[in-house]
Amino acid sequence: MTSTATLAVGPDATDRDAVLTIRDLTVVYEVEEPVTAVKGASLTLHRGEILGLAGESGCGKTTLAYAVNRLHRPPARIASGDIVFHDRAGHDVDVLALEDADLREFRWSQLSMVFQGAMNALNPVTSIRAQLRDTLRAHRPRMTRAQVEARSVEVLERVGVDPRRLSSYPHELSGGMRQRVMIAMAMLLEPQIMIMDEPTTALDVVVQREILTEIVRLRDELDFAVVFITHDLPLLLEISDRIAVMLRGEIVELDTSQRLLREPRHPYTRKLLGSFPSLHGERGAFIRSGVDETAGPEPTTEVPA
Ligand SMILES: Nc1ncnc2c1ncn2[C@@H]1O[C@H](COP(=O)(O)OP(=O)(O)OP(=O)(O)O)[C@@H](O)[C@H]1O
Ligand SMILES: [Mg+2]
Repeated sequence: MTSTATLAVGPDATDRDAVLTIRDLTVVYEVEEPVTAVKGASLTLHRGEILGLAGESGCGKTTLAYAVNRLHRPPARIASGDIVFHDRAGHDVDVLALEDADLREFRWSQLSMVFQGAMNALNPVTSIRAQLRDTLRAHRPRMTRAQVEARSVEVLERVGVDPRRLSSYPHELSGGMRQRVMIAMAMLLEPQIMIMDEPTTALDVVVQREILTEIVRLRDELDFAVVFITHDLPLLLEISDRIAVMLRGEIVELDTSQRLLREPRHPYTRKLLGSFPSLHGERGAFIRSGVDETAGPEPTTEVPA
């Protein structure tokens, strides 16, 4: 990373395990009647946590994810705010100041994204092997052919896809398999953050559950942080350590999943929970693993009730 993109200040002393800090982020679509899709959003993502981002369609979830990755394109514009990545060496990287080459490297190596509808975004005329290889070659030019092949096999195995599928083309795979391949691509360079935008919404419930179990297991093993975006709050309650609730561009509540379920503070959160009557009881035990249900991070004070 260039020195110009490195902030002088270290992480907040109270937030030593932060991997990403978003402060007061505002994103506007500059169309005839400008739309402020994200309004003053602030949140801190901790190392190794699964942070759910919930909210109804159009509330700004995807816009927020694109901005964090600097993938937003006109008419979208970041009107204000800071996005700071805290790397393993203890440096703070000002994401909004990254120059092209550093930004490209940041996107795959530090923070990767599984896009909404991504399983249909694989290149239809290229084998899975070639797609994994191209990404690896672009970012790790010194890897030998054998190393590229070995890493490709390894990531597919990690997401539960038979490595013989490396020779397959996307249309030869089921939707669930394609989504697993997208997750494998996202973890190819061992990023510290993976943003997943509705990664399982298009899948049937059985496959969805398998993939969610896989994501939680991978997080437990590899310790990356996940921002998991979906309008499906019950699903988030099962897999997330904490949940941010978005309403019309604002993060109106951010708390541990347990507390959000037990004591929702914002009326909109209560409304969201109220629309899922089956939530009471021992949800969460099935998928979540390695998480102490009684511990979890302290409630955030970032978002007032
Ligand atoms: N290119 C664009 N031009 C103008 N407005 C846009 C554009 N893209 C998105 N918006 C608006 O920004 C707001 C947020 O959209 P966004 O796609 O971020 O929502 P979302 O929470 O991801 O919704 P969903 O759950 O349907 O994926 C919406 O009001 C949407 O209409
Ligand atoms: Mg979206």
